[in-house]
Amino acid sequence: MKTRVAVLISGRGSNMQSLVHAAAAPDYPAEIALVLANKPLAKGLEFASQANIPTAIVDHTAYATREDFERALDEALHSHGIELVALAGFMRVLTPWFVDRWAGKLINIHPALLPKFKGLDTHQRALDAGETEHGCTVHWVSAGVDEGAIIAQAAVPVLPDDTADTLAARVLQAEHALYPRALADVCGKKSET
Ligand code: GRF
Repeated sequence: MKTRVAVLISGRGSNMQSLVHAAAAPDYPAEIALVLANKPLAKGLEFASQANIPTAIVDHTAYATREDFERALDEALHSHGIELVALAGFMRVLTPWFVDRWAGKLINIHPALLPKFKGLDTHQRALDAGETEHGCTVHWVSAGVDEGAIIAQAAVPVLPDDTADTLAARVLQAEHALYPRALADVCGKKSET
């Protein structure tokens, strides 16, 4: 049985696309059963609709409190029978309430080699720090932002003439390879238990 996965996005959704492509393989252990965005205009929603994947919008600006927003999110996930949530460029920090409810079922991709460069602007910060290596991490989501246990990482070199944009593009390519592998690992292990 394939794990029913929701991918949560806020924008372009290129990582979501890489997961959708991977999940098209008959032996892939996950099915992308929902693409959910917190922004009605998130670019990735168009791709998901064209790929015939159910989509949902839970617009955070429509809710008075973070808790109301997360309750709506939680309801949408349950109504689609979701078993695992993959954050992919989802730009809302989730509260401990939501993280606890989805403990062990919530993963994220972060564009840095955690524990280095938690938070935003990771590529510029890696350049400023004179790193020779940078990369991406798939990790379990815990209450602390970008702090959960690491599932998988991929490294790329930092080249002498890199800008934040060229480095981001190299890391993004690595993300597109890493996230489908990490999701398959997580879902494969889940189905063995
Ligand atoms: C990726 O770099 C991801 O690691 C970060 O936000 C970016 C999202 O890109 N969390 P996309 O929407 O998947 O194209």
